Amino acid sequence: IISQQSEYGSQNLGNGGKVTIDMSSPNIAKPFSMGHLRSTVIGNALALIVEKSGYQPIKINHLGDWGTQFGKLISAYKRWGDAEMVKKNPIKELLTLYVKFHAEAETDPALEDEGRSWFKKLEDGNQEALDLWQWFRDESLKEFSRIYDLMGVSFDSYAGEAFYNDKMDRIVELLEEKQLLVESDNAQVVELTEEELPPCLIKKSDGATLYATRDLAAALYRKEHYDFAQSLYVVGHEQSLHFKQLITVLKKMGFDWADRMVHIPFGMMLKDGKKMSTRKGKVVLLEEVLAESIDMARTNIEEKNPNLTNKEEVAKQVGVGAVIFHDLKNYRMNDIEFSLEEMLRFEGETGPYVQYTFARACSILRKAGWQPTTAPSQAYQTAWEKEWKVVSMLMEFPTSIKRACENYDPSQVAKYIVDLGQVFNKYYAEVKVLEESPERETRLALVYSVTVVLKEGLRLLGISAPEEM
Ligand code: ARG
Repeated sequence: IISQQSEYGSQNLGNGGKVTIDMSSPNIAKPFSMGHLRSTVIGNALALIVEKSGYQPIKINHLGDWGTQFGKLISAYKRWGDAEMVKKNPIKELLTLYVKFHAEAETDPALEDEGRSWFKKLEDGNQEALDLWQWFRDESLKEFSRIYDLMGVSFDSYAGEAFYNDKMDRIVELLEEKQLLVESDNAQVVELTEEELPPCLIKKSDGATLYATRDLAAALYRKEHYDFAQSLYVVGHEQSLHFKQLITVLKKMGFDWADRMVHIPFGMMLKDGKKMSTRKGKVVLLEEVLAESIDMARTNIEEKNPNLTNKEEVAKQVGVGAVIFHDLKNYRMNDIEFSLEEMLRFEGETGPYVQYTFARACSILRKAGWQPTTAPSQAYQTAWEKEWKVVSMLMEFPTSIKRACENYDPSQVAKYIVDLGQVFNKYYAEVKVLEESPERETRLALVYSVTVVLKEGLRLLGISAPEEM
């Protein structure tokens, strides 16, 4: 019924300026955590919202693909690894190797040195080390890609931490030039006492660079490469200090554009009130969570609409949409209690509720054999009291997008579509839309307008809108 993406709600706040969005950014050879899920979902919604608001979003996956842990991993793989096992189940196998390395290192401290020396080889460009690293990275990315595909998320760049290896000398030189580097506890740091922040670590005594150094290089690269209007970082609030230091150091270096960098923090995903990263050594695998959500959606469909034609596709859209909506419906700084039952409810503030309202509105239009011939705005001109509530709600859509864009807050759109769903369902319960009457055409046009806006609202959150479910 609605084939095209609607222009309604589009606005020009951005004048085509570029917005880089650092999002998702999981660590290679480690499981994709709930924090990375939140960053992916919020970042993707922000990309869609800023695009709708007249900016050009650039989604960057700043992969955690460099650091001493890769030396340890190479050393562990050389001792105990098995290529077939890694290929079959890369993240799980690499994690096992990494955990074993740490267990063994407790009794055999020589291992730590071995790990360090492999990382040194890696940094010096040793071919064997580089090949293994590249292979771990490729295998991990293959696994992450399955999750991104399932969620319908794509990236404009996968330039991770390793990408900045040859771009950090320049940062160190610039810092030296500006006399910002000082020696402290065997490391090179930038003091931030005036700003009442702890010093920012740039270089370790052995010359190894750090997370912050790579982020400084990345910030400068993004400025020079994209000339961004804004540079966003969707990263958990645990890293707030890191981003404060980063922005402060860049300003000390004389880069005014550092004012255009924004850290967009978010709260934690909790299960029974506790942080949900690991449970008793067993990791909560995101893929399993999504699979379970899709299963539950499938069971629902079997119960309620067993004759639906594209059941599998719809189960996927509803299952994944439920997880995404649950994440986006509250202000991002709030912690979220993880509950599949809660996410998949058909009443209340859930993704399936909005999707279901959309499908119901579509079914009304189908029953009426109604085709959108005139612009939906026709409906506004002849609205009566009951219709007016729906119409005025429809007119709020652009405002909710503007608020979401200006506050980097997708929950504005999520709350809006739930409200619209409620207003519409109330209207539909009170007014016999399909009954023959002189108002029928206008009412159907109104229903059509609701479908357009619900679909567009869901799209801005990264959620599909099945026409039947
Ligand atoms: N890989 C990091 C982590 O998992 C997140 C990276 C965030 N982005 C950045 N530019 N520092 O903690």
